[in-house]
Amino acid sequence: MTDAKTPAARAVHLEADGRSLTLPLVEGTEAELGIDIAQLRSGLGMITLDPGFGNTGACRSAVTFIDGERGILRYRGYPIEELAARSTFLEVAWLLIHGELPTKPQLDTFASEVTRHTMLHENFGRFFEGLPKDAHPMPACAAAVGALATFYQQPETEQNGHETVTRLIAKMPTIAACCYKHSIGQPFMYPRNRLDYCSNFFYMMFGTPCEEFVVDPVLARAVDLLLILHADHEQNCSTSTVRVVGSSRANLFASISAGISALWGPLHGGANQQVIEMLDHIEAEGGDVHRFVEDAKSKKGSSRLMGFGHRVYKNYDPRASILKKSCTEVLNKLGIKSRQLEIAVKLEEMALKDDYFISHKLYPNVDFYSGIIYKALGIPVNMFTVMFAIGRLPGWIAHWIEMRHDPDTRIARPRQIYTGATVRTYVPMEKRL
Ligand code: CMC
Repeated sequence: MTDAKTPAARAVHLEADGRSLTLPLVEGTEAELGIDIAQLRSGLGMITLDPGFGNTGACRSAVTFIDGERGILRYRGYPIEELAARSTFLEVAWLLIHGELPTKPQLDTFASEVTRHTMLHENFGRFFEGLPKDAHPMPACAAAVGALATFYQQPETEQNGHETVTRLIAKMPTIAACCYKHSIGQPFMYPRNRLDYCSNFFYMMFGTPCEEFVVDPVLARAVDLLLILHADHEQNCSTSTVRVVGSSRANLFASISAGISALWGPLHGGANQQVIEMLDHIEAEGGDVHRFVEDAKSKKGSSRLMGFGHRVYKNYDPRASILKKSCTEVLNKLGIKSRQLEIAVKLEEMALKDDYFISHKLYPNVDFYSGIIYKALGIPVNMFTVMFAIGRLPGWIAHWIEMRHDPDTRIARPRQIYTGATVRTYVPMEKRL
């Protein structure tokens, strides 16, 4: 129950087991309200239970705002639609990390610093050699980012903090390309400093030492847009992981490596790979979209509609709207006719008219169309989630820095409601049944 007074005077009054407690409300800049339960355990001797944290705010954050009911996403106050239309990935990275859009000199310096940190230590060659040939690029990428901590071991300071951030953003595409080259047995390509961020990535992915490789600017821009759209999404599973790991004072490389591992799961970033596999499966089964939708509704086996649904969005994911449009544009520019896009559009039309999807508020999410674009750009399917990781990196960094500077940060350490056996006496082996 709340008092409708000034924010400071608003509070929630709780009564339980004959004890009462008043808890203050916290209000965000977009009028989101939370109950500050810091005194709950000491006041009432109780904790909250919220599996999956659907009702739990873990921190105050000024990085990204999402209104899932209205389909709104803003980085540092700027609508995603404007950033997608007018910005670049490096500019967005600066915005997320520093809180403001960069001036021209700031952006030029940042781009130049990023360009100059793209090379990996030569020992990384041997690191990749140690992995099996069919190593999935996501765990390879998580391991390589973790291994960066062994090359840069100096204690954290403000100055080398900036260098660490630059190194991570610069080396991530190089690591990603090495993971791919390793898996197909081709030589690693050294980065080219004359190329912009996304063109350089394409060069390292698809170039070979044998011949000239010219990057198609359509491809580079398409990837830039995808990276912008993935750059942050407030307290999602991988970002929360980065914050939790960082809260123990683990360094940025270790925290980001953990975030990459969290992103790999099929319910999170791994969904983009699952979407393409689902579309291929539907096609292989004769293209019967209707049957697939029915299976997803019946909750049989694991046949969820991948790329649909979101913990926060109960409306169309604004990133999916941008990507649906971009998907058609990119395919047209490249002159590609995609059977997967046709199936995806049919699937979406059918799901959006279906009572189950309407009543569960399940709409396409960012992963529904991204895989189709990646495929058209020639990115191998097992690299899709790595692409997501390259995009999400500035968001993870922004949250890690915010967490480190927040005076309220304490080591993340949730509690539990214990449901196991109560105390019992050790049973010697010979007496066990
Ligand atoms: N297809 C069919 N039913 C679904 C789906 C789906 N894709 N997603 C949720 N539901 C149903 C679910 O069965 C449940 O039904 P009921 O209430 O009748 O038992 C209800 O909707 C709520 O589902 P939930 O799993 O409790 O919801 P959640 O908020 O815990 O999960 C989600 C969100 C994204 C994990 C889930 O929607 C999902 O598994 N989607 C498919 C995977 C996917 O596309 N993931 C990418 C998410 S966006 C990018 C990212 O963040 O990485």
